[in-house]
Order: sequence, then C-alpha cells, then structure tokens
Amino acid sequence: MAAHSFRPPARTLMGPGPSDVHPRVLEAISRPTIGHLDPLFVNMMDEMKGLLEYAFRTESRLTIPVSAPGSAGMETAFANLVEPGDTVIVCRNGVFGGRMKENVERCGGTAVMVEDEWGAPVDPAKVEDALKNHPEASALAFVHAETSTGARSDAEILCRLAHEHECLSIVDAVTSLGGIPLEVDAWGIDAIYSGSQKCLSAPPGLSPVSFSERAIERMQKRTHKVQSWFLDLNLIMGYWGDAGVSSRRSYHHTAPVNALYGLHEALVMLTEEGLEERWARHRHMHEALRAGLEAMGLRFVVDSGHRLPQLNSVWAPDGVDEAVVRARLLNEFHIEIGAGLGDFAGKVWRIGLMGHTARARNVLLCLGALEAVLDEVGAPIERGAAIAAAQRVLSA
Ligand SMILES: Cc1ncc(COP(=O)(O)O)c(C=O)c1O
Repeated sequence: MAAHSFRPPARTLMGPGPSDVHPRVLEAISRPTIGHLDPLFVNMMDEMKGLLEYAFRTESRLTIPVSAPGSAGMETAFANLVEPGDTVIVCRNGVFGGRMKENVERCGGTAVMVEDEWGAPVDPAKVEDALKNHPEASALAFVHAETSTGARSDAEILCRLAHEHECLSIVDAVTSLGGIPLEVDAWGIDAIYSGSQKCLSAPPGLSPVSFSERAIERMQKRTHKVQSWFLDLNLIMGYWGDAGVSSRRSYHHTAPVNALYGLHEALVMLTEEGLEERWARHRHMHEALRAGLEAMGLRFVVDSGHRLPQLNSVWAPDGVDEAVVRARLLNEFHIEIGAGLGDFAGKVWRIGLMGHTARARNVLLCLGALEAVLDEVGAPIERGAAIAAAQRVLSA
C-alpha cells in the first residue's frame, strides 16, 4: 500500500470550532515528547492547573484538563455528580442541552427538561418554576454559550437559583471559556467543563474542567461507584496530584503529553494578553463583523442582548443554497464557516470568531469573500457596503 504524509491546507477556521491555532501553540506541540511522570512534565502540569484557575477565575483545587474532548468533560461532570435515582433539571435551548439529558439518563438519573426556543437564552423564570416543582432535584445543568445557535444564557442568575434551591450547578462552558465573561467562583459554579479548541485556540482533544468544594463533597458522599473508570475523578486526582503534591502522583493513564504542551502554551498566551482584554477583543471583532453582515442585509438569529460575540448565527438569504456558499468559501477562499444544526440545518450559517481567529484580518476576509460569493449566486444582498461598515468599527 502506497501511503503518503497528510499535509492539510492552511484554512481560516471561522466555524463553531476548532478555531485557528497560533503558530506558537503548534510549535509547542512539536517539542520533544518526554515521559508523563517525568518531574519536568509534572511541574508543567502543576503550572497548567494554575493557568486554568486563571482562565476559569477560580481557586478550586480540582481544576484540570481531562485527556479527551469537551464531550468527555461533559461526561466527567455528570458521571461524578449524578447517581442512579437522582433528579437533575436540564435546560435545553439547542443541541447541547439535549446531550446533557442523555448524560443524566445514562447515569441512571431523571432529567426534568426546561425547554426554550432555539436562538433564545435559557429563561430563568422557567428554571425557577422547575426548581420549585422538583424539590428532590440535586442539580441544575445548562449551557452557558449554546454553540448550535449563538445564544448566551445568564449563568450568574441561573447558578444563584440553583443554590437557592440547594442544587449543584453544572455549566457547559465549551464555547464560553476565554470568549465572554465567566466567573466560576463569584457566580458559585459547582461543575464546569470546556474545550481546548474554541476561545483558547489550542487543537481539539482536551477538556478543562473545574469542581467546587460542594461538588467534591457530593462526590465523596456517593453511594454508587462512578460507572466510568476513565472519568472517575477520584482516580484522576491520584494522577494530577492533590494540591500539587507531585510525589503522590500515580499512573492512571498516559497523558497526551504534546497536546498538553499546546494547551499550556495557549494558556500562557491568554495570560500575556489578559483575560479581560481577550473578552474585549472578541466583542470588538464581533461588532465589526456584525456591522458588515448587517450592512449586507443579513439578519442575526439571536437578539442583540443575548448574542455570543464568538459565534455569529445569521439566516441565509432567501433562495440561496447555503451549502453551496459554504463549499465555495472553503474551496475558493480556504475559509471554513459552520452550517446550521438540527432545526437550523440548511437555513443558518454559524460564523465563529474564537480565540486566534478573532482578528480584523479575518473579519474583513470573511466579509469580502462572503459578499463575492453571494454576489455570484445572485443573492438579494446590499453590495459594496460590508467592508466599509466593518472598517468603521475597527478604526473607531
Ligand atoms: C456547547 C458545547 N458543548 C459540548 C461540546 C462538545 O465538545 P467536543 O466536540 O470537544 O467533544 C461542544 C462542541 O462543539 C459545544 O459547542
């Protein structure tokens, strides 16, 4: 069999993730592999915990990257905090709330669903009703930044409600971490998981997680074994070390050494930029993109008060085959944008401005290419206005 090296083209990743990876992070990944129990690697792991605490704004001692993608972070939260017979209030306003329901049920729990329309945020009034009607509930789970729609929910209010009703809060921050304000300790988040490939701009495959003291207490009181050996936090903590006591580390699994170099470098870059400055950059780039898209006549799916700057969902214009436009952007301009999922399939584009992707160059590139393709397919758009509108925001 004739096999060849795989050499992917350089794309501009403006979909729902992964985002563009900075050359510094790619270079870090190519450094020499060392043993995952090598003292130097263990030191790096300890530093990584501190960097993740910075990103999550927490002092929790259980803040680590799970060695698998965001979905595994989600499973880690549910597998460790939900026991057979538990009731969990689960909010669904897009694809990922549905996955939380699956997780609760696979842990032997009952999911009480709070439903909101796709594109809308989670409604705190409905959540409060569900909490009142289900005093037996032990946790409230919701997605902070719903990647399937581009809607942001009010995590602070939802966590407050959870605590008022003696529930743990389980928060999906796969798309929010590093992109929009997120305050794990100040908002009282008990369990949170994210992904390396969105606003942190490391390659996919790692899931930063953090658990509060209340969550740790809940795990310690479990009466059933965590059904997943790999994701059992009691075992994982033996490897990641409690409070940085390196000598106590024991083998659990072989850590993805080079992938962790990459996440470490991406987090170092986050500290260099500053977390708040990164939030502000996402907002600024979103404002420029928004101005350009609206000048073209495209409409946003989510209303302005709940829009995610890092994930811009817009309706494809009437009569346009959205898949053809996406394919032309990819093939002719090397730009990837996302398709709609579920109810939004065939109707919506999801334009990501996450992490290293959130730059003026990409905003202008995307607007220029999108306008050129829409023009050629005869879409009913305003021509020639997008770039100027975006530039006005960028130079303000
Ligand atoms: C909100 C949300 N939750 C969970 C996931 C799952 O993460 P992963 O694809 O890294 O497993 C994603 C991925 O896009 C996501 O956007």
